[in-house]
Amino acid sequence: MKKIIVLAALVTLVATSAFGAISGTAHDLSGKGTGTTEICAFCHTPHSGTTQAPLWNRGAGPGVVTEYNSSTMNATSGSASSDASLCLSCHDSTAYAGTVLTNVPNGSTYVPGSLAMTSVNAIIGTNLSNDHPVGFAYADSTADAGIRGTIVGSNVQLFSLTAAKTDVWCSSCHDVHDNTVAPFLVQSNANSALCLACHNK
Ligand code: HEC
Ligand code: HEC
Ligand code: HEC
Ligand code: HEC
Repeated sequence: MKKIIVLAALVTLVATSAFGAISGTAHDLSGKGTGTTEICAFCHTPHSGTTQAPLWNRGAGPGVVTEYNSSTMNATSGSASSDASLCLSCHDSTAYAGTVLTNVPNGSTYVPGSLAMTSVNAIIGTNLSNDHPVGFAYADSTADAGIRGTIVGSNVQLFSLTAAKTDVWCSSCHDVHDNTVAPFLVQSNANSALCLACHNK
């Protein structure tokens, strides 16, 4: 029963926003030599998915080797408790090329190793020391007067793997399903509005 409800939710989303938003973007891997017209399949599957993310259809992704941390940080980054490895299952580039999907779509002629990132900027790697920190509770930072007690951005969100959404993740700033504000941002960063949603500088 639970599976049916989740599947129904997935199908409803396909029929509405997520499909229109992903279709034709860099996150639409249908075509592109994958031999399928399915869009969601490169990240989700209706059956046999893992629980790492909703109905996740990919391997665990590489672990982060070096976290972002600095002497001026109040919080301590720990990307293992974030969505970083989900993103890095493609954005480290190596895992992406070699990935075997948990449940390959029926009829797909996709050959693992046949995909490659085309833009070097898209390759984040497993060293996050030069990337915005992720994987810590937002509340660990709010003692710093430069961090807002309450986020002001319209779509900027906190996440977590448990029910309480408390943490800064890749998806605090990005929406994998929507490239309306490129590159997959949750809101415009004109005048640094995205940064100022959380920072008070
Ligand atoms: C490039 C990878 C990727 C693709 C393609 C993708 N998703 Fe997702 N999806 C994710 C990730 C990662 C999450 C976990 C939440 C997060 O980090 O944003 C997620 C979460 C979800 C969720 C639960 C949370 C929410 O946003 O409501 C649903 C439902 C969902 N995806 C549906 C879809 C559907 C339907 C499609 C195809 C039209 C799709 N996704 C395509 C990566 C993807
Ligand atoms: C199924 C593989 C896959 C997953 C999972 C995935 N991406 Fe991507 N993403 C891509 C590909 C492929 C591109 C296009 C890059 C290229 O070909 O150079 C891309 C492009 C992007 C871009 C735009 C880069 C640019 O230069 O235009 C952003 C931003 C991005 N992804 C963020 C994310 C985030 C954040 C997550 C996790 C929440 C994520 N992606 C998960 C495959 C993936
Ligand atoms: C605090 C906000 C924030 C967080 C957290 C964040 N990003 Fe980004 N990311 C951005 C912004 C803003 C840009 C666009 C930069 C630009 O246009 O110069 C971007 C760009 C990118 C790009 C495209 C690179 C390029 O220059 O084209 C990728 C890929 C990406 N992010 C992936 C990720 C992944 C993976 C994570 C988590 C490990 C992550 N981002 C966490 C804000 C964020
Ligand atoms: C979701 C909220 C959020 C958004 C959006 C956001 N940040 Fe942050 N950022 C934080 C938090 C929280 C910290 C950790 C602060 C601490 O613990 O001292 C942080 C840390 C940083 C740091 C490191 C601070 C240090 O002491 O080492 C820099 C630099 C930074 N952010 C810049 C940016 C920029 C630039 C943008 C826009 C592209 C941005 N941030 C968007 C919440 C956010």
